[in-house]
Amino acid sequence: MPIKKVKEDIYWVGTIDWDRRLFDELIPLPDGTSYNSYLIKNQDEALLIDTVDPSKKDEFFQNIKEAKIKKIKYIIAQHAEQDHSGCIPDVLREYPDCKIITNQKCKELLTDELLLKQENFYEIKDEEIFHFGDKTFQFLFSPWVHWPETFLTYLPETKILFTCDFFGSHLATSELWADSKKTYLYRAAKRYYAEIMMPFRQVIKKHLEKLKGLSIDIIAPSHGPIYRNPEYILSAYQEWVSDQVKEEVVIPYISMHGCTQKMVLYLMEQLMKKNIKVTPYHLIYSDVGELAMALVDAATIILASPTVLTGPHPQIVYAAYLCKILKPKARFAGIIGSFGWGSKMEQDLLQMLSNLNVELLPSVIVKSYPTKDDFLKLGQLAEKIASSHAKLKE
Ligand code: FEO
Repeated sequence: MPIKKVKEDIYWVGTIDWDRRLFDELIPLPDGTSYNSYLIKNQDEALLIDTVDPSKKDEFFQNIKEAKIKKIKYIIAQHAEQDHSGCIPDVLREYPDCKIITNQKCKELLTDELLLKQENFYEIKDEEIFHFGDKTFQFLFSPWVHWPETFLTYLPETKILFTCDFFGSHLATSELWADSKKTYLYRAAKRYYAEIMMPFRQVIKKHLEKLKGLSIDIIAPSHGPIYRNPEYILSAYQEWVSDQVKEEVVIPYISMHGCTQKMVLYLMEQLMKKNIKVTPYHLIYSDVGELAMALVDAATIILASPTVLTGPHPQIVYAAYLCKILKPKARFAGIIGSFGWGSKMEQDLLQMLSNLNVELLPSVIVKSYPTKDDFLKLGQLAEKIASSHAKLKE
């Protein structure tokens, strides 16, 4: 990919990973991703903001060559995860005098991960100002977007905010700039928020408040396109981190012999009759990223599982664990499912959801195939969900 001009003397020198389909061996990447590195020129010297994933090293160095500079004097390392810091040792090999500008926590992580020496670093403090050529760099510590060391870099002259993972999206595209008219962009950003940022919702609220004090023309994250209409992504984040939920029900489910599926379908039918949006996620066929995205706004989560031996199906355990670690803002949760001769599936799942701040709905657990009585209970559950959602409007 050719390098791209962001502003005078500021270039995108990142790489695009069109074919990557999994991140951290966990997060599906249906649209690939990019690793955005930025090069700031001062005559024949340069400063880098983040590097790229080590798998893209050759392409990265080709980009640096294209920038026609003699040396890289500094690298601002905003985050220690390898997709942004993994090429730092290669840059240091090529430019031995180069210093890594970062905070104490990131220095510690990079030293451990990349076996770097103390003399490689220039350690910064929160809100410290740094100058390179005619440009000013202000460092804003922003822990937990999404590691403890993460920070942002603001350039007041050009009003660019470099945010690393914060406001990113896993989206491989040849376009540098985000076009807010494209709905796939919103979905990619929301999916990214759901999978990576949602657990830190409360902290992000505070970061967003702090950003209100800055005049920002461009938000340049280290994944996905760059925003020259920052309000687009800032307002999306305001909505996602808010305490407001949507009157939606998500049902992650598995069915081994059709009993649990019958229950899910009946419950959905009852909810749809009440005009409540409901989406099932069959955990064998669904992409967990889609489920994570649904958890951003949904008011209600219903886990639906058969019993395997005495406990929940392992796929439902996975979904419950996702809920536990992603910490969605749902207000209500419930368990439905079935068993053949005995089960502690309900207790196990409730235990897994115990860190969520939700009101528990009455469980409906049936022996084998649901009877008329069981369908009645599912109907009552739909009623309860409807009345609970109605209370949200009061
Ligand atoms: Fe894109 Fe946390 O690394």
